[in-house]
Amino acid sequence: MKVLVTGDRGYIGAVLVPFLRAAGHEVVGLDAGWYDGCDFGPFTTDYESRTGDIRDQTPADLAGFDAVVNLAAISNDPVGHLNPEATYAVNAHGAVHLAEVAKAAGVPRYLFSSSCSLYGAAGDAPVTEESEFNPVTPYGESKVIAEQLIGKLADDDFSPSYLRNATAYGSSPRLRADIVVNNLTGTAITRGEVRLQSDGSPWRPLVHIEDISRAFLSVLEADRDVVHDQAFNVGRDEDVVQIRTIAEGVAEKTGAPVTFAEGASPDKRDYRVDFGKIGRLLPAYAPAWTVPLGIDELARDMRDRRLSATEFEHTFVRLDRITYLQRAGRLDELLRLV
Ligand SMILES: NC(=O)c1ccc[n+]([C@@H]2O[C@H](COP(=O)([O-])OP(=O)(O)OC[C@H]3O[C@@H](n4cnc5c(N)ncnc54)[C@H](O)[C@@H]3O)[C@@H](O)[C@H]2O)c1
Repeated sequence: MKVLVTGDRGYIGAVLVPFLRAAGHEVVGLDAGWYDGCDFGPFTTDYESRTGDIRDQTPADLAGFDAVVNLAAISNDPVGHLNPEATYAVNAHGAVHLAEVAKAAGVPRYLFSSSCSLYGAAGDAPVTEESEFNPVTPYGESKVIAEQLIGKLADDDFSPSYLRNATAYGSSPRLRADIVVNNLTGTAITRGEVRLQSDGSPWRPLVHIEDISRAFLSVLEADRDVVHDQAFNVGRDEDVVQIRTIAEGVAEKTGAPVTFAEGASPDKRDYRVDFGKIGRLLPAYAPAWTVPLGIDELARDMRDRRLSATEFEHTFVRLDRITYLQRAGRLDELLRLV
């Protein structure tokens, strides 16, 4: 298939693109380039990656593709809080605009990178794809709006699917330091302590970025009627854990003690997720990673690269990079390239 991957130069995209290409698909990227140069490892450049904004795409831009995988987004809560309007503009309305132009261009499949964040504060029972949405941040809300509006476009010729990813972890050429497993491993390696930002009690579903890539590939290659207008929680039941369990795992593997950040605020996101549906409907999705394996991988790559604390805490933190680009006059308030 010829696939347009938006957000191909971000954390997940940098792993997903080689994964899809290794499976025999032709990939073209589209990215605003916010993290260009923020390299943790060698970034593949031997494919066409267009620089642009998903909000500006036209049907002519999308002509000839068999599928769109839309990863492009403001990808976390802190950036979402910076200007919620920008989050809605990109994550919700930008994603819907891209779906509309894909449909107008005759692209039959649209895979939307959604998030388990749309379940928000969900209580004790594991949430399934049928559970109610209860987002607690603009980021979570933006994913709800996107799914609902993109769903209205589904018809015989246009099949959207919504991959509700758990919180990702794992090594990537475009590493992120602001997601929990990566963060705790990074502080252990660079500062010699496993620094918790909350009391560690919240439950969090986790998934390795290579397993996210496996999920996208499985949906892409599945029969249309299996994935048409369907949502899938992407993760694995064994990796729904309390944050303090991750911290203890990192401490055990690195020898660094667990500490608590001053003024650590309680985390409102607390939910358990049921990952049964994706396994039942998409047998090709066979997750290969576990959190302990991911910690080993991250610790090894961080040591090999001699990652410094300053770099870890700035270059690879999405909020820092975005505020830097805004101060430098390269992004406006709605996070458009200037
Ligand atoms: N990483 C996670 O834990 C996680 C979990 C669940 C869902 N997701 C979703 O997966 C997707 C990818 O996440 P990530 O961690 O790789 O994020 P990321 O921030 O590393 O990458 C996002 C990429 O999108 C690009 N981008 C942003 N706005 C754009 C726009 N308007 N037009 C074109 N390009 C734009 C950025 O330049 C960046 O390269 C996002 O939609 C995110 O919400 C991520």
